[in-house]
Amino acid sequence: MKTLCHHTMIWRINENPARQYSNGLEPPNPETRLGLMVRSIDHGKRARVPAILGGDPTFADPLHVGRPDVHNRTSFLDRIQAILTSRRFTNDGPMVEEFEDRLCEFIGTRECVVVNNGTTALRLLFRTVMTPGEVILPSFTFVATAHALQWEGFTPVFCDIETDSWTIDPECCSKAVNDQTVGLVGVHVFGTPCDTNGLAAVARKAGISLLFDAAHAFGCSIGGTPIGRFGVAEVFSLHATKVLHSFEGGAIATDDVELARTLRRVRNFGFDDYDLVGVLGINAKMPEVCAAMGLANLESLDEVIELNRRAYQAYDHGLREISGIRLRPPPSSGAWNWHYIVAEIDEERFGMHRDLFIECLHHEGILARRYFYPGVHSMEPYRRNLGGRLGLPNTNATAGRVVVLPGGISVGESNAIETCEAIQAIHDHARQIALTSR
Ligand SMILES: Cc1ncc(COP(=O)(O)O)c(C=O)c1O
Repeated sequence: MKTLCHHTMIWRINENPARQYSNGLEPPNPETRLGLMVRSIDHGKRARVPAILGGDPTFADPLHVGRPDVHNRTSFLDRIQAILTSRRFTNDGPMVEEFEDRLCEFIGTRECVVVNNGTTALRLLFRTVMTPGEVILPSFTFVATAHALQWEGFTPVFCDIETDSWTIDPECCSKAVNDQTVGLVGVHVFGTPCDTNGLAAVARKAGISLLFDAAHAFGCSIGGTPIGRFGVAEVFSLHATKVLHSFEGGAIATDDVELARTLRRVRNFGFDDYDLVGVLGINAKMPEVCAAMGLANLESLDEVIELNRRAYQAYDHGLREISGIRLRPPPSSGAWNWHYIVAEIDEERFGMHRDLFIECLHHEGILARRYFYPGVHSMEPYRRNLGGRLGLPNTNATAGRVVVLPGGISVGESNAIETCEAIQAIHDHARQIALTSR
């Protein structure tokens, strides 16, 4: 990791600036750059030069959003030994059974059905619970929520989000209900819970199913009630980037025992017994090695959440004094997993548009992302369907200013502090950067 110290007035011009402009951007004119540096010294500004202006990148080994890790390797490796000894690699083996039991204990539901990924979990659930028709969902979500519906033949109808929680607005949902509507899918975006009461009231009145995409929300709660216990069922993603992961995986939590029984048949080709198929099924089984990873990670979840919390607090401290960038606060409704470092850019106050800011971060080796941009309703498979019929002003505005910064246990406090210092330098040089990037 190479950084320029804030307190020394040492300028280092990268020997080979072209190396840093592999994304097609022109390197800034060295003359201009030098002029800007001298001006910065004249005005007594900080010594750190953003990489986009020719300074050294903050991270030679780039930081990613949600880079996977395993906190307790020994536990995982012990379980792998047991799998190899048993020669039971898949087909709902003992690791899967144990993982489902542990998840039920953690969430407090009667059932939890694990499958090979979160998107498949959504597809299986949608298909099993609802009959064909329109399904209401937010556009401010990962595209998989909509894909799972469309893939199963439902018509996604996109609703706007609330301005504070960024989750689907129940008022918008109630306006979208018609006689074709069969369901409503809330998404706990970045682990902030939906207005579950408001959505339950809409679903009850309309006589439709209420389901949740809880891909981001493992370890979160509303008051003392864990996410996983709302609606007919909730789906978690256990993808490697998530707070709890099983390499790839998904889990459907529900109190409906009959629904869980059907989901277990469906994930295994619809088999009821040897040679007996009772329902249309598919192969959505979770392999034993994935369940082993899930179990090892569940054991260390508390420590992981604490590490996430410390990284978040380092960001909170580091960004507090920088105008025009605001870290999303933790939800006030209950427990949170602290997994997502989400910020909003106010273009005027920060001095540059969100997209240019992200470009600057990428030059620093900080691979921030625009989650979720653009809203799903404006993506190609959905542009022409009913999605746009209500207008989504909050979704469009939020999608235009959101930045997700690297978080999770592979980032840690010191990298968070370095990232904030890089952001400070970008902010300090915003005018110069805007000029050179024209
Ligand atoms: C909101 C949301 N829903 C669904 C998914 C899909 O989960 P998976 O990647 O496990 O298929 C994701 C994945 O990131 C997600 O963020």
